Amino acid sequence: MTDKKRWSDEELQLWAYRLEGQSPEEIIAWAVEQYGTDIVFASSFGAEDVVVIDMIAKVAPQTPVFYLDTNKHFPETYETIERVAKHYNRDFIKVLPKLTLEEQAEQFGDELWKTAPNQCCNIRKVEPLTDILSQYSSWITGIRRDQAPTRANAKKIEWDEKFGLMKFNPLAGWTSEDVWAYIKANNVPYNPLHDNHYPSIGCDVCTRQVMPGEDPRAGRWSGHEKTECGLHK
Ligand code: ADX
Repeated sequence: MTDKKRWSDEELQLWAYRLEGQSPEEIIAWAVEQYGTDIVFASSFGAEDVVVIDMIAKVAPQTPVFYLDTNKHFPETYETIERVAKHYNRDFIKVLPKLTLEEQAEQFGDELWKTAPNQCCNIRKVEPLTDILSQYSSWITGIRRDQAPTRANAKKIEWDEKFGLMKFNPLAGWTSEDVWAYIKANNVPYNPLHDNHYPSIGCDVCTRQVMPGEDPRAGRWSGHEKTECGLHK
């Protein structure tokens, strides 16, 4: 399946321009039309991602969806995954790291997330992501431009240099308010941690509550320089 068709820069620019004015649903439908079963959605089951799952259910329900199970998600996140699967009556592909938590501790010491969070993210998220993306020609993510300066230039369609495939960011132009308006209007099931000062949710050991006035991503890898785990440039 994976010919990893790489579009010319001119084609990409043109499509990025055209998709800029389209709704996330139109972008998802168009992307799936282009790639068939050779496209996959990466879901963390955060607010953005349950919106995309709802849209996929409406415009392209056959689209595969995977999640990177780091073995360190919050219990609420695991419960959300089950609840969302039941709600949409569909499966999600669980992608596990090569090392169990015990093997990781044996090889690199206890609590690697504290001593070397980048290495921990590499083992538990980036390497498994690299493996699963090698099976597809394009992926869909839930990133938004206003989440972080590192995401400010995300296009709705772009070539992902790091993982070597096409990347669609249908919510790139949305704000957090747009996301929550959609969730409420469409009764989308979401992670209850969002109602308890967790706007951005990663592993339980590397995510803390965010207080009013703080940056929504301030709770991710708090106390470390790190702001991205390496899934997005
Ligand atoms: S992260 O890189 O800091 O962890 P963030 O939580 O903002 O990312 O999520 C951004 C996008 O990355 C999500 O919309 C989703 O597409 C993808 N993503 C993040 N975490 C996961 C995960 N555990 N499994 C699958 N995709 C994920």
